Amino acid sequence: MSYQQEYQSSIDDPAKFWEEKAKLINWYKFPKNILSTDEQGIERWYADGELNTCYLALDYHIENGRGEQLALIYDSPVTDQKRTYTYLELRDEVARCAGMLKHLGVEKGDRVIIYLPMVPEAAISMLACARLGAIHSVVFGGFASPELALRLDDFTPKVLLTASCGIEVNRIIEYKPLVDEAISLASHKPQNVVVLQREQAVASMHSGIDLDWATSMQQATPADCVPVLGTDLLYILYTSGTTGKPKGVVRENGGHAVAMKYSMKAIYDIEPGDVFWAASDVGWVVGHSYIVYAPLLHGCTTILYEGKPVMTPDAGAFWRVISEYKVKAIFSAPTAYRAIKKEDPEGELARQYDLSCLKTIFAAGERLDPPTYEWLRETYKLPVIDHWWQTETGWAMASNLLGIERMPAKPGSATMPVPGFNIDILDDEGQILGANEQGFIGIKLPLPPSCLTSIWGDTERFKESYLEQFPGYFSTGDGGYFDDDGYLYIMGRVDDVINVAGHRLSTGEMEEIVGKHPMVAECAVIGRSDELKGQMPMGFVVIKNMPKADNSEANTEIVKQLIQMVREEIGPVAAFKEALIVSRLPKTRSGKILRKTLRAMVDGDEYTIPSTIEDPAALDEIKALL
Ligand code: COA
Ligand code: AMP
Repeated sequence: MSYQQEYQSSIDDPAKFWEEKAKLINWYKFPKNILSTDEQGIERWYADGELNTCYLALDYHIENGRGEQLALIYDSPVTDQKRTYTYLELRDEVARCAGMLKHLGVEKGDRVIIYLPMVPEAAISMLACARLGAIHSVVFGGFASPELALRLDDFTPKVLLTASCGIEVNRIIEYKPLVDEAISLASHKPQNVVVLQREQAVASMHSGIDLDWATSMQQATPADCVPVLGTDLLYILYTSGTTGKPKGVVRENGGHAVAMKYSMKAIYDIEPGDVFWAASDVGWVVGHSYIVYAPLLHGCTTILYEGKPVMTPDAGAFWRVISEYKVKAIFSAPTAYRAIKKEDPEGELARQYDLSCLKTIFAAGERLDPPTYEWLRETYKLPVIDHWWQTETGWAMASNLLGIERMPAKPGSATMPVPGFNIDILDDEGQILGANEQGFIGIKLPLPPSCLTSIWGDTERFKESYLEQFPGYFSTGDGGYFDDDGYLYIMGRVDDVINVAGHRLSTGEMEEIVGKHPMVAECAVIGRSDELKGQMPMGFVVIKNMPKADNSEANTEIVKQLIQMVREEIGPVAAFKEALIVSRLPKTRSGKILRKTLRAMVDGDEYTIPSTIEDPAALDEIKALL
């Protein structure tokens, strides 16, 4: 079937299309209700189907002869460790971990927070929750205690799973003190904290609530899979919105399993038995979908890599892993490839390895800039696929559909909409724009399976954030355009979300934190372009009672404090390292901060001064300071 036929059939009759795709997985009870509308008016997939995601990811493959095949490879240059799990071994570990959680009272529908570094136990505990029908929420290790506390209060987990430490290249990050602080900050206290002790740091334990992972696992009785409904939740993943409160994106079991399974062949052209590597982190959506769930649902071998693209030990790390485990496709963020390019521009380190196994290089998480695209293609002589997606969807909205029909690539474009995603480019009024006209990217409802159907505990916020701007559409928050050939170009966020090293961050949240400093009158944080990380946050800060911009030593001390505050509140991942003190912010007469103009100015791009500007001298001052 051609791409056009496949895509058109998904748009003409979504229910029929996704009924057919639902047959790709082994349901306990095949759904009769393929697409229905719930009492909130939200469209849901497979409401009356019954399945278990963990069964499909592990037990099903064992029943079908894959028991001895490797399911998961753990490669950790930061601890100098490697470990492999066959499907049988992984299933046994997961069943035991599920038994451990069950013993702690975790049942279907209960919540578990997973705050773990890139160790096999992270994937094991996600699958263990799925086995019990419990809902997990993984919190990325680079977030600080207040972020974890926010999630504790919003998600109210029964149990928190953590480790004594994570390792950032050669720096030990002790997790347990961060967990203890988060629990003391939060109103909701989990009943138990299970701690994986790693030899790099031993966590101190509090009697009554803290439990040792190894001992608890030893004492546990393996637990079996619990059937859940298609619309029962598999996980919640928090992502940055435009305010300080992150949004808990909900993921349902049925639609997720179908979309994951379908995507492995349709998008990535991967067969069961192949080795697939998403070089990301389980704390991000890419890690959920393509380190853990999709490769296992498809019967592949997946890799969990505890290291960086560079420095662990060098820019050859990715190529070493690829050749060692015969990886067929790699998927990482453009930042990671740019980091390699910087260290090894000629690709000499890669030439030390046999990369004949590798067929495709995938990139997502941020725009793949044409120079990096060209460099990857020329250096590694392989197809390079940019594809566009977000936490809300859990899989790509636009890609080159390699398993259906390979399209000629165009640098800077994420190619074409993935089947199920009915994409239009809209103007401010919601009118559909034509080819080459840039606007808001909307997806016509219904969204395909796997996409969010609510924000955890706040359906109103879900409707407000995504469905109200353009009635009948889901607003992606991204801007872009189609060219004459129907290729989609993603040009960046149209809201206050920025993308730093493939990590999604809220400038609004940073502004709220900076604004808490007693000396700060007001501030604006923008994302300025960065050669390595795509974007970096940059603050413009007005100090109380200071009529003239003064970046003298006393004030740089304030800037240092602001940087520290953001690091302590959000975490090191925020990478807020730069702020300028200004006497006033450039605003329109109605008080709107001219962020777009600020961004263009900082990036050295052309800009026009809006006629609505309140005080043009504010921009002159900034120009002089840059
Ligand atoms: N736990 C604790 N701290 C973490 C962390 C984690 N899991 N991940 C990152 N951090 C810290 C880093 O150590 C760094 O701290 P520092 O300010 O003290 O140096 C800070 O957060 C910022 O991290 P990052 O933006 O990742 O920068 P880096 O300089 O450490 O690494 C790259 C640069 C390019 C190697 C790295 O950004 C990278 O691998 N990017 C790919 C991103 C990716 O896979 N995204 C997933 C979406 S597909
Ligand atoms: P996250 O939810 O963390 O995955 O971040 C999603 C956001 O990252 C999207 O809304 C985009 O702004 C950006 N993004 C992801 N993939 C791409 C891509 N291939 N091209 C451009 N932007 C992307």
